Order: sequence, then C-alpha cells, then structure tokens
Amino acid sequence: MRSTYADVSSHTYRAKSACTLLGISENTLRVYSENSGIQVSRAKETASGIPSPRIFTPDVIFALAAYRRDQGYVKTPPHSGVPIVITTSVMKGGTAKTTSSVELATHLQLLGMRCLVIDLDVQANASQMMGYEADLTADEAEEYGVNQEAIVKETLATVLIPYLERKPGADRIPSLEDVIKKPFGEHGPHLLPSDIYVSDIEKNLLFYTGKLNRNLIFKKFLADSCAGKIPGFNLSGYDVIIFDCPPSVSCTSTCALAAADIVLAPIRMDAFSLKGLTKLFAELQDLQESVFVAPELIILPTNYSANISRVGRMQGKLNPYKEFISPISISASEEFPKSLEGYMPLTIQKPLQAGSKEYREFAVYMQNKIMALAEKRMAAEGAAA
Ligand SMILES: Nc1ncnc2c1ncn2[C@@H]1O[C@H](COP(=O)(O)OP(=O)(O)OP(=O)(O)O)[C@@H](O)[C@H]1O
Ligand SMILES: [Mg+2]
Repeated sequence: MRSTYADVSSHTYRAKSACTLLGISENTLRVYSENSGIQVSRAKETASGIPSPRIFTPDVIFALAAYRRDQGYVKTPPHSGVPIVITTSVMKGGTAKTTSSVELATHLQLLGMRCLVIDLDVQANASQMMGYEADLTADEAEEYGVNQEAIVKETLATVLIPYLERKPGADRIPSLEDVIKKPFGEHGPHLLPSDIYVSDIEKNLLFYTGKLNRNLIFKKFLADSCAGKIPGFNLSGYDVIIFDCPPSVSCTSTCALAAADIVLAPIRMDAFSLKGLTKLFAELQDLQESVFVAPELIILPTNYSANISRVGRMQGKLNPYKEFISPISISASEEFPKSLEGYMPLTIQKPLQAGSKEYREFAVYMQNKIMALAEKRMAAEGAAA
C-alpha cells in the first residue's frame, strides 16, 4: 500500500533526468552514487558484460541532494533561528500560486535547502499536488490502495488553535512528527497539509484583536516555535517555509503576508491579475504602516506566451511594478494541468519538460534572494548580540 496518492517509488529516472534534477554532470552523479552509500538500483535489462544503468527514484534523488548539502558541496543559507518565510499570494484565482509554491519548494530542496510547504487553502490544492486528497477518510483508504499515512488528519489549525488558546496543557498541541507529511521521504520537501478545517484558523483569529496584534500572530507563532517555546513543535530545522494562500483576502492570508520575508505573487498576463496585484500592493502597504513589516515582493509571470499581443500590452501596464518582476517567467504549458493527475509536481514527473526547467531557473534566482536575506538577518542578529 502506498503512503500517498501518488505512486512515488515506482517513478524512476535514468541518469539524464537525475542530472537535470540535481544540476550536475553524469560523472558527478556517478561519484555521488558511489560515495554517499545511498542505495541506487540498477535497471534489470542488461547486455552481457555491461553493467546495467543506474535508475533513481525521487526519494533517492532527494537523498543525494541532502548528501551534497551535508558534504558542504552546495551553499545553503546561514540560519540560526526562524526559517526564511515565503508567502505565495495575490488576490486573483488561478494564477499558478499553488503550482509555483510546490514547484519552488521542490527545486529549493534539490538545491540543498530544507523546505516546508504550509497549505492555507481549504481547496487543499498544494496538498493534492504533493500527493494527498484532503477528503479521503480513513475507512476509504484501502479502497484507493493507500495506507493511513495518506489521510490528512492535521492541518495548521490543529496546531495553531491550541497555541492561541494558551490554556495550560500545551500537550494538546500535536507534535511536528504527527502533523508533517513527507511524500518524497525524509529528504524531500515536507508538507503541512490542509482540509476544510483549516478555515477554523480564520474564526479563531477573529477573536484576537487585543493585546497581541492579530496580524502578527503567525510571525509570533513561528518565532515561538523556533525558540523551542512550543513543546514538540520546533520548525527551526527548516531553511524555508512556503505558505500557499488562497486567492481571497482573509485574516489568515494577512497573517501569512505579515510573517513573510518574501511575498511571491504569480500573475497571468491579464487585466484581472493586475487588479489582484494592485490589491496585494495595498495590503502590503497597510501592513507596513500598521505593523511595520516590509517583505520583499517578487512578481512571477506565469502562463507566459511572448507572442500574444495582450501580453505586450500588459507589460506596459506592469511598469509601476517593474522593479519587483522576476527576470524569469514561466511559459504557458498544458503539461502543468496534465501533471495534476499524477499528484506530484511536474518537476518530479517530467524533469526534462521546459516548465520544470523554468521553475529550476526561478528557484536559483530565489536561492540568491534567500541567501542575501539570511545573511542580512545573521548580520543583524550578530550586531544585536
Ligand atoms: N505555466 C502554466 N501554463 C499552463 N497552465 C498552468 C501553468 N501553471 C499552472 N497552470 C494550471 O493553472 C491551473 C491553476 O493553477 P494553480 O492551482 O497553481 O493556481 P492558483 O493561483 O493556486 O489557484 P487558486 O487561486 O484557486 O488557489 C491549474 O490547472 C494549473 O495546472
Ligand atoms: Mg492555489
């Protein structure tokens, strides 16, 4: 029985795909495979006397990325406390927010960072893209060939609500190990999934208008978690946390924006996205004035086709936001909607697809931003000490 909807372990790569995922040469892949001690299988068919080619599963690829990190072969952000938080948000539906959150987490993990995706949307699309159907019940599991690990029982609500209630008995907060899903094994990107009960966060946040400013609740929750103040629930082991927000404005998404170091706004090149972006910009300005936070905004054009005249016109309209636009765009590709059926990001299903490669390029761009922010934070902490 599988532990996610996706059949992850029967998905295999030959060397070319494995090298693309890790951004290394075939020779380096061979050296890593031999030196890491990680069990890499070989294809069954073989001509006599020739060693059969190595085949790699997603969990092996992520284990090799972790090996490379542990050996110090890649640069990772300096980090002594709270992870760098990326909040994916724009007040417009269907702009590839979830696709971008999950593809980015996948590539950052391959680049050596430890990533956690937190799904804040009742639609639970990020959870689906990482292998989970939020409305699957424990009784139905067997019918679908999955075990109890594939069931979504806990969400951010399960942890955050008892934290907010602040009643004695913090033992009601479930432990990190109980709530986090690891669809690609320990070394892949992790997920705090969502189901319809994640909306209980909103109801609970509405009570908090007093002492602790409501908008800063997620920020405080993360700081307390990483300082070890929430027993059993310490998020400081992650380099990056990505909140995937729904398209609507809510207290929950405002809290996620206020907790962000980077706000990622994927947009389609159309007038509705521009409206959503204007609204996001206003939200960020409000937060800056009310709670003095100023996350860096990065606008990612998605569904991009340079040869559509509307796109050219939109580029002009985006001029006021020019400084925030990512130099990398994600092209329109039917491969993205097709990949949803596989319950895994496109990158994992088809590493050689143009869309997967574009998200890798974008992740490298984000890696530099993350490094710079982490270094700035370390320097500020050093100066304060
Ligand atoms: N580059 C792309 N080209 C074509 N289709 C895409 C692209 N990126 C994403 N899609 C598809 O667009 C649809 C919406 O994507 P996604 O769910 O990521 O958007 P979203 O902004 O998170 O939506 P929502 O506002 O509902 O949360 C999906 O079917 C997805 O596969
Ligand atoms: Mg979404």
